[in-house]
Amino acid sequence: MYKDIYITRSRMPNSEYFSRLCNDIFESSWITNNGSYVQKLENSLCTYLDVSHIIACNNGTTALMLALQCAGLAGKKIAITPYTYVATLSALLWLGCEPVFVDVEPDTLCLAPGLLRQRLYEEPDIAGVLPVHIYGLACDVESLETICREHGTILIYDGAQAFGSRYRGKSLLDYGDFSICSFHATKIFHTAEGGCVISRNADAHNALTLARAFGHINDTHYSLGINGKMSELHAALGLSLLPGTEEEIARRRQLCAVYDAALAGFDLARPVRPEGLEHNHAYYPVLLPGEATLLRVQRVLDEQGVHLRRYFYPALNTLPYLKAEWRSSCPVAEDAARRALCLPLYGSFPPEAAATVAALLTQACSGGGEYA
Ligand SMILES: Cc1ncc(COP(=O)(O)O)c(C=O)c1O
Repeated sequence: MYKDIYITRSRMPNSEYFSRLCNDIFESSWITNNGSYVQKLENSLCTYLDVSHIIACNNGTTALMLALQCAGLAGKKIAITPYTYVATLSALLWLGCEPVFVDVEPDTLCLAPGLLRQRLYEEPDIAGVLPVHIYGLACDVESLETICREHGTILIYDGAQAFGSRYRGKSLLDYGDFSICSFHATKIFHTAEGGCVISRNADAHNALTLARAFGHINDTHYSLGINGKMSELHAALGLSLLPGTEEEIARRRQLCAVYDAALAGFDLARPVRPEGLEHNHAYYPVLLPGEATLLRVQRVLDEQGVHLRRYFYPALNTLPYLKAEWRSSCPVAEDAARRALCLPLYGSFPPEAAATVAALLTQACSGGGEYA
């Protein structure tokens, strides 16, 4: 029996290599403010993702705030998916925006383009759209692009979970007017805390760079800014981890195959991977038949030391602190949020442990629970 299995574990760098970079930073005494390691990381990320404009930030939430601010969306109405981690919504609320929740597709759990189109016709003052590539799976990027172009609406993707996913031959982060990513310690590629914004042209990139560092250069103040800078130490961690990213994804792919095989034939739905997607295997979500089963399964596995997480619960349109008029009904997201559980998934998780977790899960689903 494996004891105390959690759904993720941070990937750690080669300690000698990381120490070498830290010593270099130590010698230079330059530890933040767009230093050479942040610049090196940005260049390496441009190469890895095959994109032209990227700014590294101190986390994904600030990255999202910077993208919204530089896109001119502060204080405006934004269409957003209700099925995501709460940070997507909080970034928008901190900027005084009004969320318009648009439900998700039942198969991918990503924002539904048909519902979005209808909402944009009904509310032409919606100025931006904020979909999420949930679990690293791809939104319907073609339809969303078409709809946003038709309505002149800015499209910002929250790709916090999408690093390493590729769709139709290019990074999933290379879609939309802006894409953001999180480099939090739980992510496939991380810098302990960190994130980035990917933009499409030099003007947007320059505005983001300025806003990331308080909006001024020396004594000239150009625009509203914030402290969104990444430190040199975080960038060094990123540079140490970036080369191992493909191997991390390959290991996760192998673990997902173990889960797929062990769970085949059980009444556990999974979000669909769209055709053309090379998935990063960021998460392994399963949808249980109902919430009562989920709570029982979670409790039974907890007792066995396997701590599954409800990602993503609750649907954000139901949050208690929202204004009443923002809480529109999103039945698909609300149903998925009640039934979704994520299984342990990280590169150093042994495949035989994944097989054990799957066996415990299937026994617990069929009403069992005694695995002493
Ligand atoms: C979908 C989504 N958006 C935003 C964030 C926020 O990123 P960060 O934790 O780097 O601020 C996360 C983080 O986990 C996320 O999963």
